[in-house]
Parts: sequence; structure tokens; C-alpha cells
Amino acid sequence: TVMKLKGREVLDSRGRPTVEVEVAGSNGEVGRAIVPSGASTGRHEAIELRDPEDRRHGGMGVLRAVAHVNGEIASAIQGMDLEDQAGIDAALVALDGTPNKGRLGANAILGVSLAVAHAVAAARGEPLYVHLNRLWRSRLEPGEFAEPVLPMPMVNMISGGLHAGVNLDFQDFLTIPVGASSYSEALEMTTAIYRAVGAVLREKDMEGTLVGDEGGYGPKLSTNAQAIDLILEAVLGCGMEPGRDVAIALDVAASHFYDPKTATYHLTAAGDDALDSAGMVAMLAHWAKLYPIVSIEDGLAEDDWNGWSSLTGMLGNSVQLIGDDLFATQTARLRQGVERHAGNAILIKVNQVGTLSETFDALLLARRHGYRTIVSARSGETEDTTIADLAVATAAGQIKIGSVARSERLAKYNRLLRIEDELGPSARFAGFKPTGG
Ligand code: PGA
Ligand code: ZN
Repeated sequence: TVMKLKGREVLDSRGRPTVEVEVAGSNGEVGRAIVPSGASTGRHEAIELRDPEDRRHGGMGVLRAVAHVNGEIASAIQGMDLEDQAGIDAALVALDGTPNKGRLGANAILGVSLAVAHAVAAARGEPLYVHLNRLWRSRLEPGEFAEPVLPMPMVNMISGGLHAGVNLDFQDFLTIPVGASSYSEALEMTTAIYRAVGAVLREKDMEGTLVGDEGGYGPKLSTNAQAIDLILEAVLGCGMEPGRDVAIALDVAASHFYDPKTATYHLTAAGDDALDSAGMVAMLAHWAKLYPIVSIEDGLAEDDWNGWSSLTGMLGNSVQLIGDDLFATQTARLRQGVERHAGNAILIKVNQVGTLSETFDALLLARRHGYRTIVSARSGETEDTTIADLAVATAAGQIKIGSVARSERLAKYNRLLRIEDELGPSARFAGFKPTGG
């Protein structure tokens, strides 16, 4: 049973405060989790509670959320069965009482929810993914995706948008090593490409040293397309074939240059292009023809449902179309997407929804409707590696952690190497097919 809850303020990879929670059980087991934080957050995400009126940390403090962990939440769940993750998560949701967890804070609630799972794994002497896989299986029908699977990583090479602050409109230019036959091979191909992209940028005097929030390079480029050209040059330089060995993925993060009042997308990288929804769809379709692009995330804004449906009608059979801001890991949003044929994949971020159980809900609903699932980190991360275990345990298929630089990213990649090693020759690897179950 839950004996003691301890919340505290710690710092994330941007040096901003975030919530850490320790849960102690009656047999002395302790579980700990640290909550991540986004920068390009969507409107439909659960609310992260901060202390804007407080001058500490420029108003970014999380002491109110921490106080909720140590006070109200601790009193409410004390004595509950630690193994009853669903019961504890339901109690947390009910205690908060708002639709977006804005009263107690999704950061307070998620810290507790994840720490509970860690405590159970510790009590059982099991790796976290084994425990998470048991919880996951308990939700499945016979024959449904129950076996742990190592995910294919999609990895950020060049950053723009709100993560690098230079002049690229699109947020991430990523690679997927589609030709890899194991997780460790995928990672090795990726680090080779990352080094090569750095070398190409340095050679061209384009700042191949400085990196953005997620470890991707943040060069000053004149067009979005240039970022893809540079990555493809690096891929070829590694002796890999674009399309066959390595494919390109984009996180357009289009909500952040969309003006809902005028229904216009404002692209500034190549002059000031103002596009309507149909223009954006046409541009993305053109890019998908021009380049070996197999995945596009948030190609349209979070409430441009018609645009999403039209993009999916046009590209949905050949390109993975991921809703991040669009779905915000919320089943209600995903249900709308299924009805409207908007997207064919969902980004899964634990702090967009705020509990482990609701994260399972989103993963399960997606899989049952043939949507692909990509477990994702945030741009503000820590040494916490829970999402690596989550991706394996739920056979999510893909993971997105940022680049292969900065240890808040590598902690997760290394955790996956450890899991792969532990599973041994029986380790299954997801591989990559752009569409289909
Ligand atoms: P965020 O970025 O964590 O800043 O929201 C990640 C993403 O958009 O995928
Ligand atoms: Zn995104």
C-alpha cells in the first residue's frame, strides 16, 4: 500500500523547475519519477501548474504543484493498493475534478502516477517495462499486441521553430533508419548520420556545433528545404541510400505559425509566404513527392480538422501522418480524428494527458483503429527514462526522444540498449513500414 508521498522541485534540461515525486510503499519499496515539460505545447494538453506570481525561477516555479503532491494528493491516496494503478489514477483524476487537471496540475498528478508504477516494479524486483507490460496486457483482448517490442527511433537532426529560435518554420527535421534490423543497429546508423550532418554544416560554415533544446543542430538556413538537402547529403556521405536505408520525417508543428483568426499559415523562412489550409496541404504533398519523406507530424494546425482530413485523403496511404498538438494524447480528440479520417498516427506524450492509465487508453484506442503510435519525450526532459520502458511494454512501435546529443535524451536511448541486451536474442524490433497496422 501507499505509505508516503514526497514531491520536490528539481530542474529539467532547460534549467527550469519541474516536479519529482517519490512514492514509498509499506514494504520499503520506493519509486521515483520526474515530469517532463514542452515548449511548443498544444491548446488541448493537460495543464502544467506553475507559479507565475512567484519571482523564483522567473515565475516558472512548481512549488504549488509540489505542495499538492505533499498535501492533498498524499492524504487522498495514502493506504491505497500500489498495484491498483487504474484505481489510483482514477482517484487522482477525481480529486482534481477539472477536465484538464488544472487545479492540482498535470505535473503533480503525472509525477505521482508514474512513481507508483516505479514503486511496484521495485517491490516486485522487476524491470519497469515488465511491470508496465503486465498492466498493458490486462487491458488487451486475446491476440492483441501483447509482446514487448523495441521501438524504431525517429531522431531529430536539425531543429527550428520554437526549439532553436533561428529562422526555420518547421520544428524538427528527423531521420528514421528504416533499413535497420535491430534497435542497436538503428541507433548506430543514427549517430553516424548525426556526426555527418555536423560535418556537412561545419564544412559549409553553417554552425554545425550549436544544438537546440532537443540536441538537433540549429543552423541558420534560408529555406526549410535546405535542411532536408543537407541531411540527405550527410546520409549519402555515410554510404547509406535515402529511402532504402534512411528516410526523412518532419515535425512541422504547424499550430505555431497558424493564425486561427485569418485561417492562415505564415511561413517566414523563404520570404513571407502566407498559405491557407489547401496551400499547406499542396505544399506538403509536393514535398512528399520530392523527398523520401515517410512521416509528417502536425503538418496542419491543432484545430484545422478539414485540412487534416484533406491531407490524410491525399497522403494517408503512403505517409505516416502524426497528430501531436492535434490529439494531445486525449482519447476524445483521437475519436474525432478517427471519425473525420484525420491523420493515421498519434504522438503519445505522458504529460499531455497526465496519468499512466489514460496514456494506455490513448495507445489502445489508437492501435484498435489502426493508428500508429509514437511514444515521445518533450523538449524539456530529465534523466527520467520511464518512456523508454513504456514504449517497449506497449509495443508502441516507434519512439521520438530528440537527437543523439544531450544526456536527458541519451538516458532514454541507453535505457533501450539495456532493455535490448536484457531481452537478448529474443528481443523483437518494430522496424518501419510507413502505413498500415
Ligand atoms: P515540445 O516539442 O515538447 O516542445 O512540445 C515536442 C514536439 O512538438 O513533438
Ligand atoms: Zn510535435
